[in-house]
Amino acid sequence: MLAMNYRGPFRVRADKNKPQPEILHPEDAIVRVTRSCICGSDLHLYHGLVPDTRVGSTFGHEFVGVVEEIGSGVTNIKVGDNVLVPFNISCGKCAFCKQGLFGNCHESNPEATAIGGIFGYSHTAGGYDGGQAEYVRVPYANVGPTVIPAGMDPDDAVLLTDVVPTGYQAAEMAGIKEGDTVVVFGAGPIGIMAAKCAWFFGAARVIIIDHIEYRLEFAKNYAKAEPYNFKSLGDVVLFLKKTTDWLGADVCIDAVGCEAAGSTAQTITGRKLLLQAGSATALHWAINSVKKGGIVSIVGVYGPTGNIIPIGNVVNKGLTIRANQASVKRLLPRLIEHVQQGRLDPKGLITHRIPMEEVSDAYHIFSTKLDSCIKIVLMPPSARN
Ligand SMILES: NC(=O)c1ccc[n+]([C@@H]2O[C@H](COP(=O)([O-])OP(=O)(O)OC[C@H]3O[C@@H](n4cnc5c(N)ncnc54)[C@H](O)[C@@H]3O)[C@@H](O)[C@H]2O)c1
Ligand SMILES: [Zn+2]
Ligand SMILES: [Zn+2]
Repeated sequence: MLAMNYRGPFRVRADKNKPQPEILHPEDAIVRVTRSCICGSDLHLYHGLVPDTRVGSTFGHEFVGVVEEIGSGVTNIKVGDNVLVPFNISCGKCAFCKQGLFGNCHESNPEATAIGGIFGYSHTAGGYDGGQAEYVRVPYANVGPTVIPAGMDPDDAVLLTDVVPTGYQAAEMAGIKEGDTVVVFGAGPIGIMAAKCAWFFGAARVIIIDHIEYRLEFAKNYAKAEPYNFKSLGDVVLFLKKTTDWLGADVCIDAVGCEAAGSTAQTITGRKLLLQAGSATALHWAINSVKKGGIVSIVGVYGPTGNIIPIGNVVNKGLTIRANQASVKRLLPRLIEHVQQGRLDPKGLITHRIPMEEVSDAYHIFSTKLDSCIKIVLMPPSARN
């Protein structure tokens, strides 16, 4: 089958001869992919920043498709169903899944102490092949895959596998209260969705920070956020204090993660010398520009072993830090309703639709932010025409 194939940092290609996945466990399903996105998280893999990303692996944790085959123990979905598949692989039965922490499943990635299994996200996240392929094996198929409601656009459905729940959870974890000023760092798909969802919780003002003009413009139109380019602000923290009566924002959201720009010291130690797990510049800014007693919500991805962050300021300002991978399954019922009622327009984020054979160009475009790219959908041959 056709599948994205990782060859090493900055090198991916379309492999036409990857063996088709098979049922390995009675609770597995095989899904024929009809749409698969590239995520900012895939860029951390593509740039070689995620430990144990093995050559030959297939990325892709945001996909929808048709159930092609099911194991003897699968009862919740049937062959022919159109499903959306959450990016987390969850058993549904462990103590963490039972609490709704579907991103922290204890069974799907037993070698790890922190993260649960994720499709196509290195052996650190379980070593599962992902959905940037014609077919994908879906473990625990009674738990994750969700039948796409009749009438829902598959472009909306594919963004419900990650972007929408992650953006929503960023706002939810931030504990936004009526009248709050919210600052979102990062105007990628996740930051834009977080800014959009911040209004649902009662925000009075939503500021978004990035250094890519077209993304700031997009965020302004799509999420009605106040955009600022950090390159023209000088001292970002000082600017944010000044614009909030010198108190700081009520809430800051880090939707950038470990490849943040904006600090030479962070970039050299984190992204060039790998003395820390990437650059934590946006998180620094978030901690330093939130008000005393405020909340910092982190959905940007950071990995092992650790990052240098101003923990003293967290303590002395009395901050609450909340963070996680999104718990997609927990949020799906509410978010499907938001989409059906027209309160959210996920597909509005899609700027590019690229044949899966051209996956290498697609990564290059998304990584270098060419052509006003916000979100790319890869289309396998069977889903085109
Ligand atoms: N927690 C989760 O469940 C989850 C799910 C999906 C994605 N993520 C993570 O969320 C982050 C964003 O994902 P995305 O798809 O939007 O990625 P993206 O690469 O499209 O967007 C990141 C944006 O951050 C901007 N940026 C860089 N440095 C910055 C800084 N110092 N301040 C403000 N903005 C800065 C970039 O210019 C870019 O526009 C990534 O780290 C990704 O891994 C987490
Ligand atoms: Zn993703
Ligand atoms: Zn579990």
